[in-house]
Amino acid sequence: MKVLVTGGAGFIGSHTVVELLNAGHEVLVYDNLSNSSEKSLLRVEEITGKKVPFVKGDILDRETLEKLFSENEFSCCIHFAGLKAVGESVEKPWEYYHNNIAGTLVLTDVMRKHGCKNIIFSSSATVYGEPAEIPITENCPKAPCTNPYGWTKSMLEQILSDMQKADPEWNVILLRYFNPIGAHKSGKIGENPNGIPNNLMPYITQVAVGKLKELGVFGDDYDTPDGTGVRDYIHVVDLAVGHVKALKMIEEKAGLKIYNLGTGHGYSVLDIVKNFEEATGVKIPYVIKPRRAGDIATNYCDPAKAKAELGWEAQNGIREMCADSWNWQKNNPNGYED
Ligand code: NAD
Ligand code: UFG
Repeated sequence: MKVLVTGGAGFIGSHTVVELLNAGHEVLVYDNLSNSSEKSLLRVEEITGKKVPFVKGDILDRETLEKLFSENEFSCCIHFAGLKAVGESVEKPWEYYHNNIAGTLVLTDVMRKHGCKNIIFSSSATVYGEPAEIPITENCPKAPCTNPYGWTKSMLEQILSDMQKADPEWNVILLRYFNPIGAHKSGKIGENPNGIPNNLMPYITQVAVGKLKELGVFGDDYDTPDGTGVRDYIHVVDLAVGHVKALKMIEEKAGLKIYNLGTGHGYSVLDIVKNFEEATGVKIPYVIKPRRAGDIATNYCDPAKAKAELGWEAQNGIREMCADSWNWQKNNPNGYED
């Protein structure tokens, strides 16, 4: 299939482009590079030995999208493009709603005008809010989000579902990611956050490489086995493969489908520190800090539906996730800037 990959230069997008090319699909990456580097795509070319067509552009830019769809016949769009920093979204709600929601409305309008009504959307476990049940199945009700970023995902799920209901020619797959970490085994592509990382694994790898002094563990008094937050970490390559499986379901007329993409295992912050140290031999100094606003105690999924319907299951365990995150960071201490 010929696939438009919005946000394809980013962390999850670049790994997905590798898996799409390996599976024989044709891709075109569309990204405004607001949170990524075009170098990631050169690395994808090194990994796959294939060219990655790239157009620099914004999903809010209707004119450029119109031109792109006039010149290319896309079978599907895998839509990663979006802003994703939780804290920043609280400071800049308008920017988040505009970029993520208005951007997706423009994109899908151009898509339907050009007869491309197949979309795979990057959603998030954040739509479950404080989850009503653990492990979380797709039947678990959505709940109020704690920040504008989360609301953009929740609202976009609703918008895309309503569009599919009104026009069943649409095939919409909502993929709710849990916590993607790890990197491609080659160490050539990986997560490349701007400034001080907000997320746990990039923070740990930057401590390991000596860029940051110590990890702050946000709270040790949660109702979890060791008091620290529990999450469902998933290797980004497994997540990427999930998109290739979803694409197959699109070909088979998906209608509207929702899948959790996680491993089904919960690890605490201190579990991650321990596994990272054991996988890499690098010590991670840490201090306990107060809880971070908006965090929940425990979040992990039941991935059975994705296994049954997509034939997808995560292959990598926590040690591989830690080892591969470290392999990327130590080979690229400054991300793509070297
Ligand atoms: P990322 O920031 O690395 O990738 C997003 C890409 O979208 C970037 O390359 C950015 O430049 C691009 N982009 C942003 N706004 C754009 C716009 N208006 N037009 C064109 N391009 C634009 O993030 P990621 O971690 O790869 O996440 C990919 C998607 O998955 C996002 O939608 C994110 O919200 C979602 N998601 C991520 C996580 C996570 O923990 N990483 C979890 C759940 C969901
Ligand atoms: N944590 C620390 N110290 C840090 C960073 C994180 O102790 O420096 C803890 C958090 O308190 C939490 C766990 O590590 O218990 C994981 O935190 P992350 O920030 O890595 O991930 P979150 O689960 O908070 O959020 C991530 C994405 C969101 C997404 C959510 C659910 O950042 O975009 O998963 O999918 F919505």
